[in-house]
Amino acid sequence: MYILGLTTLGDAAASLIHDGKIVAAAEEERFSRVKHHSGFPFRAIQYCLDEAGIGIADVAHVALYWKPWILRHKAMQAIKSAAISRDMFRARVDRGVDQVSKSYLGMFGYPRKLRQHFGPSDFRFHYFEHHLCHAASTFYLSPFESAAVLTMDGTGEDTTTMFSRGNGTDLRTLKRIKLPHSLGQFYSAVTNFIGFDMFAGDEWKLMGLAAYGKPVYKDFFAQRVLSANGNGDFHLNIRVLDHHLAKHYQFPDEIIAELGPARQRDEEIDQRHMDIAASAQEALEDVVLKLLQHLHETTGEKNLCLAGGVAFNSVMNGRIMQESPFENYFIQPAAGDAGCSLGAAYLVHHKKLGQPRGPVMNHAYYGPSFSSEQCASALQAAGLNFETLAEDELLTRVSNMIAGGAIIGWFQGRMEFGPRALGGRSFLADPRRGDMRQLLNEKVKLREWFRPLAPSMLEEASEKVFGFDHRDPFMVTVISVREEMRDSIPAVVHVDGTARPQTVSRTTNPRYWKLIKKFEEVAGVPALLNTSFNIQEPIVCTPEDAIRTFSGAGFDALVLENNLVLRQANGN
Ligand SMILES: [Fe+2]
Repeated sequence: MYILGLTTLGDAAASLIHDGKIVAAAEEERFSRVKHHSGFPFRAIQYCLDEAGIGIADVAHVALYWKPWILRHKAMQAIKSAAISRDMFRARVDRGVDQVSKSYLGMFGYPRKLRQHFGPSDFRFHYFEHHLCHAASTFYLSPFESAAVLTMDGTGEDTTTMFSRGNGTDLRTLKRIKLPHSLGQFYSAVTNFIGFDMFAGDEWKLMGLAAYGKPVYKDFFAQRVLSANGNGDFHLNIRVLDHHLAKHYQFPDEIIAELGPARQRDEEIDQRHMDIAASAQEALEDVVLKLLQHLHETTGEKNLCLAGGVAFNSVMNGRIMQESPFENYFIQPAAGDAGCSLGAAYLVHHKKLGQPRGPVMNHAYYGPSFSSEQCASALQAAGLNFETLAEDELLTRVSNMIAGGAIIGWFQGRMEFGPRALGGRSFLADPRRGDMRQLLNEKVKLREWFRPLAPSMLEEASEKVFGFDHRDPFMVTVISVREEMRDSIPAVVHVDGTARPQTVSRTTNPRYWKLIKKFEEVAGVPALLNTSFNIQEPIVCTPEDAIRTFSGAGFDALVLENNLVLRQANGN
């Protein structure tokens, strides 16, 4: 039985499961080439159907990640926030609330839209609560028979944070925290205060910058902005920091009196900005640790599952693993709203249909793949010179090139689901070179110097690198690198001695594992520098996307499956 899960609006995505196993999952942005694509995921749905070789008539259930009728509270909150500023209030009345309502009400038309576009089908359509979808996306795919679940994001219908408990196929909500008290909106508002853009997903930048600062404003944040009482609640003071105002780069006087003026987008980043980032980061971590203490006390569980956009905060995740009372962790790699499509599909499978638990999600390779022949055709069509090599020779050549300083666009196997490139669509480089981070950020990726880059490493080497056996196939946790190792892989160790590793398994990505192994033989370190294969766009999906990105860019070679393209051999 096929079940299709959908995320629409922000980070639109589709996931297809068959008898409890994931067949396909992908974000709409990869096909539309518009970052964080918002809208109905026509292309992602088509991809899921194609991957399974089915039509919409073969789909028995369709599940949406949202209940559009829970609108009232959210709309009231927007109006309350807007009332803080008269300009904002006018703007909202003119378009804001109206537009938002229209897009949510449009969800009632989705079954018809699906049939109009994809053809007749007698699927059943289900609407699920947003945070329940986040919770399902992490618990049902975790290795745990029972676990406590914490989901945190900007907001769902009106819930921003939810405590749940999973046991077998049972997933129960224990507590909801609602607007305006939102950890995601807090972090996004500070992101804009530092002159980045919450809509572009710039929250990563705030987290990266935090490592360079000192938390000198933490008390202000903890006392006046974001406070937790230890009973599983927290409070966000929107009179001091309001997400709706921050969207328009407007900030109340109290926060400016305390922190100084908000940074303009083109203003130089200075120590004060880094200190604000560090303070907000720690304030967030402290609140989440208090929530987890409470969740642990009330459930007595030793396993914890996390999802929701806030669970992308890998620095916070590292602290959770060190300091929270839980023992074992699973963090959904598509922790943002895209992952809700997967959660919605599993809610049908387990909650509606009562089917037993299936396989654990131990990798994220659920997107499109292309054969070596398809890649070769695309290269020919683009008029590029290339060589087609057997795997062993390819891996030897590529590992030697990386050790010699080359930056490689690496494209093989199925595309990753979730925002992290995990060796399917990655830029690869030598982690031993201290200048490589700056080179990659500024010359290849065309982005800020301070963005950290991460290692992909053999999972067998984690003890050597971190001093204990740490497994993270999804790059969702920042942890400390052993002092003795820091100087040998400087490009992937952050200023504070930490890294955000992907531990690569020989079983889930054998070719990537072998490449790192070959690199270890040449270079003496069991890790490569890995960052996502994209320049100011969504991660590449097709060979054509990769070729377009290669043209005129600052990296040295492109690998499309077994085909190797050298920039030197193509005269640009
Ligand atoms: Fe969400």
